[in-house]
Amino acid sequence: MKKVTAIYPGSFDPPTNGHLDLIERGSHIFDELVVAILRNPEKSPLFTVGERRRMLEELTAGFKNIRVDTFGGLTVDYAAKVKAGAVLRGIRALSDYEYELQMALMNRKLRPDLETVFMMPAEQYSYLSSRLVREVAKLGGGISGLVPELVERRLREKLDPGRKLKRNSGGT
Ligand code: PNS
Repeated sequence: MKKVTAIYPGSFDPPTNGHLDLIERGSHIFDELVVAILRNPEKSPLFTVGERRRMLEELTAGFKNIRVDTFGGLTVDYAAKVKAGAVLRGIRALSDYEYELQMALMNRKLRPDLETVFMMPAEQYSYLSSRLVREVAKLGGGISGLVPELVERRLREKLDPGRKLKRNSGGT
């Protein structure tokens, strides 16, 4: 049987429990899954690419068929470089669909033999995004249960080593 490698491209700034949920689901259906962090010089991220890579490596260390890498340029070119046959993307709600469809079809135009596979994260993560996690954490709100503990610690260190993020969400 032909082995299928998939890439899971994204910003992962920071990785959330929604990303981890999708990575686990992807690891069950693909022979190999490469979590690919985009090196985007146009964005000013909270975490450096190296920091995000180290977090994701630690978080996925228990999976035998997952590795973490970084890439620049087009996703389709990176997919060709690692001989991936599929791109994994998560769809949380209808609002994601339009942008994801556009990207998937553009990627298909650029490389017709590369399939995009959409998966849904568990419903408790359907409202979760890295952007919201960054915003809530910056403003001192609780983010436990939304990101892995390792990420919560890194966020606390990054944002203000002196300030304690509230342990439980629901606070203001
Ligand atoms: O986590 P994100 O920010 O939603 O991920 C977006 C990402 C990295 C998948 C997308 O911006 C991307 O593929 N960028 C690489 C450049 C590229 O290939 N652009 C054309 C996509 S249609």
